[in-house]
Amino acid sequence: MDKLSKQILNKRIENNPIWLMRQAGRYLPEFREIRKNNPNFIKLCLNEELSTEITLQPIKRFNFDAAIIFSDILMVPYGLGQVVEFKKNFGPILGDLNLENILKKNEEDFIKNINPVYKAINKVSTHQSLKDKDTIGFVGAPWTILMYMFNKQSPKKKLPVDLLNKTDEIKKVLEILDKFLKIHIENQVKNGATIIQIFDSWAGLLEEKYINDYIYNPTYSLVKYTQSLNVPVICFPRNIKSYKEFVNVVKPDAINIDYEVDPKKIKEQIDIPIQGGLDPKILLTDNQNIKKNALLYLDIFREHPYIFNLGHGVLPETDPSSVEYLVKVVKDF
Ligand code: CP3
Repeated sequence: MDKLSKQILNKRIENNPIWLMRQAGRYLPEFREIRKNNPNFIKLCLNEELSTEITLQPIKRFNFDAAIIFSDILMVPYGLGQVVEFKKNFGPILGDLNLENILKKNEEDFIKNINPVYKAINKVSTHQSLKDKDTIGFVGAPWTILMYMFNKQSPKKKLPVDLLNKTDEIKKVLEILDKFLKIHIENQVKNGATIIQIFDSWAGLLEEKYINDYIYNPTYSLVKYTQSLNVPVICFPRNIKSYKEFVNVVKPDAINIDYEVDPKKIKEQIDIPIQGGLDPKILLTDNQNIKKNALLYLDIFREHPYIFNLGHGVLPETDPSSVEYLVKVVKDF
């Protein structure tokens, strides 16, 4: 069993394992070099050779304890036949949601559309540099994926008007997503993913009264399913009103916190392993400040199973040497 899995399953290890969300990406010159010649992001995710190479880039450079597969949560709507494009300096743009079309998709069509993702996981997980490391597969939570499918772009910080009136369509899409996200998890695990992380980036947009139907129940279904495959699950319900309640209801194996969460308070409230928290903007400051802030988390979680990570993804303007320094601080602790 590898370090991260051990930490998640409460088998104490000497050091805190570390990996970072978006550890492969635009802050790395070797990534930008590949990206330059591959302007189509979806195609790049579907290039098993290159997506394997990109996944391994930060492992080679920083010796992180886990690799997270270079792909995107929006590969699922893409696999279901919705158009997904990425515009530079804007983010994802999706085509119209055609429910009739999507309802016709079967498992075979879906897998055919995104099969290189699974092949890349296979290559990564069997690569010699991953020998004592975990391979993290992931999915977007149903609510966050649904948000993109309906809104066709990032909602920024507010809930799109009208969305919550579409009760019947939401119900249908959640059913479809439950089926295909399980297929997606199953195939990642079959190909070597040893941990699954569920990203719910827009969990914080929902009012209390919708949380059961749109977040807790659909996510619990995926958590239970993943656990039935004997694979631990980390959930990241970013900005959710209560991480404590989320953990009690959804029962993941570990929880990632965002940078607005007070680490001291959350430690008192939550028994399961905790991951993340550090504001990615800290990595834009000097080493002294990076150390101070990293030690804050490490100290608070000294007696609590903790996986070092950020409260959101590495920012593109981050200097790779700051990441290198952070890894050193964590490993030396
Ligand atoms: O963590 C990792 O490095 C693994 C790969 C990964 C990507 N996206 C690669 C990516 C993961 C786990 C994701 C998750 C993801 N994708 C989320 C959930 C986490 C979060 O960020 O809230 C969301 C909401 C998306 C959708 C998405 N993909 C957006 C909004 C964007 C554009 C904004 C941005 O940061 O560039 C993407 C593009 C994307 N996904 C990039 C990468 C490396 C940047 C692509 C590029 O232009 O080179």
